[in-house]
Amino acid sequence: MLSQYQTAFLKYMEGQLPQKSPLSLYEPASYIMQLGGKRIRPVLALLAADAVDNSFEKALPAALAVEVFHNFSLVHDDIMDEAPLRRGKETVHQKWDANTGILSGDVMLVWAYECLNSYSGNLFKELTLLFSATARKVCEGQQYDMDFPNQEVVSKQEYLKMIEYKTAVLLGCSLQMGALVGGLSKSSSQSFYNFGIELGLAFQLQDDYLDAFGNPETFGKQIGGDIIENKKTMLYLLALEMSDSSDRDILKKHFESTPSNPSEKIEQVKNIFLRSGAVEEIQQMMKMYTEKALVEVEQFSINEDKKKVFKAFALELMERKL
Ligand code: IPE
Ligand code: IPE
Ligand code: MG
Ligand code: MG
Ligand code: MG
Repeated sequence: MLSQYQTAFLKYMEGQLPQKSPLSLYEPASYIMQLGGKRIRPVLALLAADAVDNSFEKALPAALAVEVFHNFSLVHDDIMDEAPLRRGKETVHQKWDANTGILSGDVMLVWAYECLNSYSGNLFKELTLLFSATARKVCEGQQYDMDFPNQEVVSKQEYLKMIEYKTAVLLGCSLQMGALVGGLSKSSSQSFYNFGIELGLAFQLQDDYLDAFGNPETFGKQIGGDIIENKKTMLYLLALEMSDSSDRDILKKHFESTPSNPSEKIEQVKNIFLRSGAVEEIQQMMKMYTEKALVEVEQFSINEDKKKVFKAFALELMERKL
């Protein structure tokens, strides 16, 4: 997907990896950054800058800032979610330990901000303001995510706000930062942010779906991780709503338990997700948010031809299997 941006980004990133001591602080940071991943956020930043200004090089530091921040959030997220696998490899806390993950994550957050020092004046101010507002929301979203398993009732609205904060705002931020670096004003770049929000909602719904139903060979994360952690994802909320009362009771019971061998629980919960119609419904929701994203593209202050790339990106992202 958009490999010219990916290639340019990876080359730039390699030159920027921290080569400092102590190694025990910086090695995990380089490890997670080099594990791979789809690089969606930096590609979106570069794509936006290119669409606005016909060049993307100036946006490379901003693209790195969002990717470093994303990877920092994953290191901490994997500690919080007790996840053993990331991108098909051991998570940082699994390979080293939780304390290493906490501190390496911390220094990555600092590094993300340092990337923005490449900019100056009003642009620097706008980028840091947007970045800080986004980073705060990601923390708030992550906290809602942590709170939901202990919360008796979670509404669909609450869930959507949670995923908007933990996931969608960073996609929006990446796009808007690219557009700002490209020279658009704060108000003209707003539609890029809005596109990222809709795309991000569809993207996180898909991530929740794949967490249960993805291909273990390619997904790169532990299948059923959200079920093990009793995450009240949209699949769960829809299944509660759409099941008959006996399935609803089984589902609720499962989400109050943490068995040492979870395979039976995962199987049963997945079957309820399927037979309740929740899986079909979540696919409809993903489609709906992708369509909303496509509508946002029409607002971009760029020529019609360039709009096509964003639309293709949105459609391709929804086809992904990993
Ligand atoms: C994972 O993000 C975390 C979510 C917001 C779902 P990605 O699916 O973009 O992860 P990588 O960077 O491609 O591994
Ligand atoms: C992660 O959400 C969002 C952030 C890291 C901020 P998930 O917990 O669903 O992400 P994965 O599935 O571990 O990648
Ligand atoms: Mg997680
Ligand atoms: Mg999480
Ligand atoms: Mg997930």
